[in-house]
Amino acid sequence: MSDGRIAILGGGNLGQALALGWTRHGGVPADDVMVTRRRPEHATLLLGGDVKVSADNPAAVDDADIVILAVQPQQLPALLEEIRGSLPGTRLIVSVASGVALESIREALGTDVPVVRAMPNTGASIGASMTCLSADDADEDALQDAAALFERLGRTLVIQENMMTPATALCACGVAFFLRCVRAASQGGIEVGFHPEEALLLAAQTAHGAAALLLEGEGHPEREIDRVTTPRGCTIAGLNEMEHYGLSSALIRGIKLSADRAAGLAD
Ligand SMILES: NC(=O)c1ccc[n+]([C@@H]2O[C@H](COP(=O)([O-])OP(=O)(O)OC[C@H]3O[C@@H](n4cnc5c(N)ncnc54)[C@H](OP(=O)(O)O)[C@@H]3O)[C@@H](O)[C@H]2O)c1
Repeated sequence: MSDGRIAILGGGNLGQALALGWTRHGGVPADDVMVTRRRPEHATLLLGGDVKVSADNPAAVDDADIVILAVQPQQLPALLEEIRGSLPGTRLIVSVASGVALESIREALGTDVPVVRAMPNTGASIGASMTCLSADDADEDALQDAAALFERLGRTLVIQENMMTPATALCACGVAFFLRCVRAASQGGIEVGFHPEEALLLAAQTAHGAAALLLEGEGHPEREIDRVTTPRGCTIAGLNEMEHYGLSSALIRGIKLSADRAAGLAD
């Protein structure tokens, strides 16, 4: 099923993940997706596949109904300047750049085309992203349009624009935070006797199941924790030891610092 032709400008880590997600998991035909970057030969995840990669931003925009802005925040002004004359046929612009306001994108483009902000993560490549979306009230239809597109890549949540930068910390950076937790758990697994690949499988699938208990079972973390912590048992002993070393505190502090840093990215 097609939502129209999509140009992803900025085929880096996220841009390529989006292209893979839409074409392999989201039902978007590869012919409908075009990715650009200044050095197309570096789009290694897409090379040899069906998604076209080029260095020609205006041509990609000319040919697209939906334009995704997926360059680094500091690279965005030059990109907007380059494409501002090519937008007449565009239905929707979605920026995934962290910390760049809707207003500043609209101003730089000088366009009436609706602009929506989205904050997905690299889980998009396998259809498992958490994507936050935001737009001005006037662009409600465009917001629904964008939400439908990102629902093909996982779950979505519409939020106020002032929450988009904090969302970077929890959703985008969050992938790294949870992966480090899984990696650390697997290293613990090796210490207690598992081979590295076994330990990683056990840790990753256990994390997957724990998350699914919340997402599919609609549980609460503490209720699920109560179910596995018997008095004087091994789970509560391990959990409390982790808390003595600051597990919860480290995550909370890390997410706060990440959100602060994300707020300064566009500068
Ligand atoms: N990575 C994530 O998980 C994630 C999650 C949510 C949001 N974001 C946001 O998504 C954006 C991209 O992040 P990223 O991690 O994918 O960064 P990245 O890997 O550095 O990708 C940015 C890409 O943009 C290309 N580029 C730069 N200027 C360009 C131009 N004028 N025209 C076309 N392509 C251009 C660069 O390739 P060339 O040098 O070859 O041009 C580069 O590969 C950022 O704004 C970030 O805040 C990222």
